[in-house]
Amino acid sequence: WIIILDYGSQYTQLIARRIRELNIYCEIHPFNKELSAFADQPPKGIIMSGGPSSVNDEGAPGLNSGLFEWDVPILGICYGLQILAHNKIPGCVEQADHREFGRSELIVDDATDLFRNIPQESVVWMSHGDHIKKLPREYEIIAHTDNARVAAVRHREQQIFGVQFHPEVVHTVYGQQILENFAYEICHLEGTWTARSFIESTVKEIREKVGDHRVLCGLSGGVDSTVVATLVHQAIGDQLQCIFVDNGLLRKNEFRDVLDIYEEELNLPVRGIDATDRFLAELRGVIDPEQKRKIIGNIFINVFDDAIAGDNDFKFLAQGTLYPDVIESISFKGPSATIKSHHNVGGLPEEMNLALVEPVRELFKDEVRNVGRELGIPDHFIKRHPFPGPGLGIRILSDVTKEKLALLREVDDIFIGELRKQDLYDDVWQALAVLLPVQSVGVMGDERTYEFTAGLRAVTSVDGMTADWAHLPHPFLAHVSNRIINEVRGINRVVYDVSSKPPSTIEWE
Ligand code: XMP
Repeated sequence: WIIILDYGSQYTQLIARRIRELNIYCEIHPFNKELSAFADQPPKGIIMSGGPSSVNDEGAPGLNSGLFEWDVPILGICYGLQILAHNKIPGCVEQADHREFGRSELIVDDATDLFRNIPQESVVWMSHGDHIKKLPREYEIIAHTDNARVAAVRHREQQIFGVQFHPEVVHTVYGQQILENFAYEICHLEGTWTARSFIESTVKEIREKVGDHRVLCGLSGGVDSTVVATLVHQAIGDQLQCIFVDNGLLRKNEFRDVLDIYEEELNLPVRGIDATDRFLAELRGVIDPEQKRKIIGNIFINVFDDAIAGDNDFKFLAQGTLYPDVIESISFKGPSATIKSHHNVGGLPEEMNLALVEPVRELFKDEVRNVGRELGIPDHFIKRHPFPGPGLGIRILSDVTKEKLALLREVDDIFIGELRKQDLYDDVWQALAVLLPVQSVGVMGDERTYEFTAGLRAVTSVDGMTADWAHLPHPFLAHVSNRIINEVRGINRVVYDVSSKPPSTIEWE
């Protein structure tokens, strides 16, 4: 496996994804991680990411003291390269006269190891203000650009490499080949890490961890929790108890439909619990979105608690925590500002006294989908759009009532149904409808109406971190709008959201 030391680059996660696309397992850790923690199973290679600092800044992140511990190959990217050089000759990195951002033509001077199978000239992506003015004599130049004499280097004696550009971004045309050369040729790693091997080792780990105890798993109807439950089920069979809660905030027919899939197609040991009244009672009159999330999260936990009350065999709770959540929380820059508190991340109260089983906490979303496919979860389920835990509760932009929920359910059903019918569902990453607390004037027949407005939103995205509004065909939008206004009594206006994330978010609350 490979360890990626994070110096705070916006691309660090991309490095991890690229390495995993080579079927090699890797983990991201802060630049100053105590590497002796991995003494049992040392990595076969280390990559140092780029970062926003200048090595000359006071308090700039430095070299990891355990870096040379295992004598394994090292690749420094951008800041990672600069810090390697700076460590040999303090002051050798300077602010460049020509800062380089964007595409640049790389000219390879030595087409062996790191640059094997790379043409002599190719496009790379640069993003740096500093450059290496004086190269320490331990290193030699293996590539340059018009702007930068030192675009890539190699240590003369050790397996240490550095590149000033970013091989991990798609704009670097041969970037993946460069990373492949590093991983396969230089680190001698083999691409054996696949969905199947992940499942085998994870099932074994769960079995060892859980022993004879029982595990509780809250299902949400989403891919992550379903994959988690299926993995745990493979490991320990009916020692697993799944719970699928109807919080009254699900979409039309969702509780019944999804429960059927869990029971009949996936054979999971699941109990459906209808807690609608409890949720709606506690949400009555609440407008603030964060307050809604908190209330909903707490009730979920209480419902789980009640479900296993008095049964002391339950010692574990299985959760679908994903890698991006984990990385964010260990970032050396400290936790980022809370934009929205996603309640399914780490919100377990102490008194519940259950240890966590988080079998996909090292995976990205698309990797979870691959594991799901390998586990035999049907494709129509894997491809379901994400749906937030607080459900329609955060899509009604005012207090939540039964009546508003009924309206929004119909709107959502028409929109999503038409996306499926017209083969557009898989083209968008997520689609949703919101009920706005805005009434406006309309005319139907000869009557004046004064009714609510529905907002439709569909986005394209890779991971939900950034998103663009989906350019759905106008005739499609016209048809959906028409159906909603004609069929949903109480709605007389439909708007389509044309904002990207950032600066907007995907959900409206
Ligand atoms: P935002 O609105 O933050 O959404 O751009 C990004 C993704 O996260 C989902 N989301 C949530 N999921 N609990 C969840 O389980 C939440 O409170 C929550 N808020 C947003 C959202 O649907 C999108 O997929």
